[in-house]
Amino acid sequence: MIFYFSGTGNSLDAARQIADASGESITDMAQALKSRKLSFRIQHNEKIGFVFPVYYSGVPSVVADFIKNVNIIADDCYVFCVITCGASAAGADVMARRLLSEINLTCDYMCSLKMPDNYVMLYNPMSKEEAPEALNTAKAEIINISEDINALKKGGYNSGIFGKAANGVMYRFYNLMRGTKKFYSDENCISCGLCEKVCPVAAVKITNGKPVWTKSKCAHCAACISRCPVSAIQYGSKTKNRTRYVNPVLE
Ligand SMILES: Cc1cc2nc3c(=O)[nH]c(=O)nc-3n(C[C@H](O)[C@H](O)[C@H](O)COP(=O)(O)O)c2cc1C
Ligand code: SF4
Ligand code: SF4
Repeated sequence: MIFYFSGTGNSLDAARQIADASGESITDMAQALKSRKLSFRIQHNEKIGFVFPVYYSGVPSVVADFIKNVNIIADDCYVFCVITCGASAAGADVMARRLLSEINLTCDYMCSLKMPDNYVMLYNPMSKEEAPEALNTAKAEIINISEDINALKKGGYNSGIFGKAANGVMYRFYNLMRGTKKFYSDENCISCGLCEKVCPVAAVKITNGKPVWTKSKCAHCAACISRCPVSAIQYGSKTKNRTRYVNPVLE
């Protein structure tokens, strides 16, 4: 069983490719939390995988909430994590290992997988011209990762003391930055409702045909702003001319 979380499709893409190569099924952590279906019995011959993006050298809030609330019934299964990133997973491995140990799971194999950057609220993501090459490089890397997982390889990515420090310092900014106050829709909105549908934490509600961010904090996954078909969602004053990155699996 591979548990995944994805805002703009990279981690879904990686989870699907690893699932195809390993014969595992995939489960969306955000959907599981929303529907409160949080009990999973894992068969002896199955593996337990977690595939998700790094946020601020740590783990997205949805992934942390899922791990804290899930009830996984399994005996002695192989456990792996694949952390997708724009540059580096930095200390997200440290946080993931700690969260998993709190539910008595030991991560056997950890990976950092470079994919296109998506954080449009903070900077300009990878351009549409550059993304296909980056995705091809990631695809080759996913083949290697899948082979490692099928061979039950142990070890992998370990950010060590640097990662622990990076997680400790950087992750505080995630909690400070994930406010929704700066989101708004502009005059281009066509009232399609997709932003409400794709939000993993139900923070967007269409009211009188336009999106309203109803929670003070969200996961900051970039799904609403990146997937809007007419780029009508803005965050503060700098996103108008920035690229919206969406992995082709969501197009
Ligand atoms: C809130 C947020 C924080 C991020 N922080 C980092 C980071 O610390 N390091 C990094 O390399 N990429 C960072 N990224 C980029 C994503 O981890 C990367 O693009 C990932 O593959 C997106 O996965 P997804 O498409 O499955 O949502 C961040 C993205 C977001 C939205
Ligand atoms: S996805 Fe974009 S166009 Fe559709 S309702 Fe939301 S803001 Fe409007
Ligand atoms: S409001 Fe937008 S950025 Fe925040 S969690 Fe929902 S979809 Fe992601």
